[in-house]
Amino acid sequence: MQINENGEFRPTIVAFCCNWCSYAGADLAGSSRASYPADVKIIRVPCSCRVNPMFILRAFERGADGVILCGCHPGDCHYSTGNYYARRRMTMLFGMLDYLGIEKERTRVEWVSAAEGAKFSATMNEFVSAVKELGPNRKLRDLRCKN
Ligand code: FES
Repeated sequence: MQINENGEFRPTIVAFCCNWCSYAGADLAGSSRASYPADVKIIRVPCSCRVNPMFILRAFERGADGVILCGCHPGDCHYSTGNYYARRRMTMLFGMLDYLGIEKERTRVEWVSAAEGAKFSATMNEFVSAVKELGPNRKLRDLRCKN
């Protein structure tokens, strides 16, 4: 969580992007000058299925206000079925996060291909404003990280 010079809340967003589609989509967004907030911190992973649900819990624990997982469209995964595994895992995790009291709008799975720079940018803009409306995430925050 950050506060800008106007006292406005700026969420910390972690975006896990698969190397083959979504990261390339983010690259395309950059080269096409489609802007998205600098609050989005991209972590490149080989495939969306590389994202262990613990990574998402850890991100929230370390201060993320929202976490988004981006991968290839179903059927287009570079490793054939990785995104199907990711989708199933995230469905289970999101149910658990809901139980823990983390609003469902703080997490999202999105399929973005390498040709969808505009979609990447629009998704990030939309996700950041949704998280901004929710305010800072206080659940799971690691007490050891506080000053
Ligand atoms: Fe992109 Fe598997 S390589 S989701």
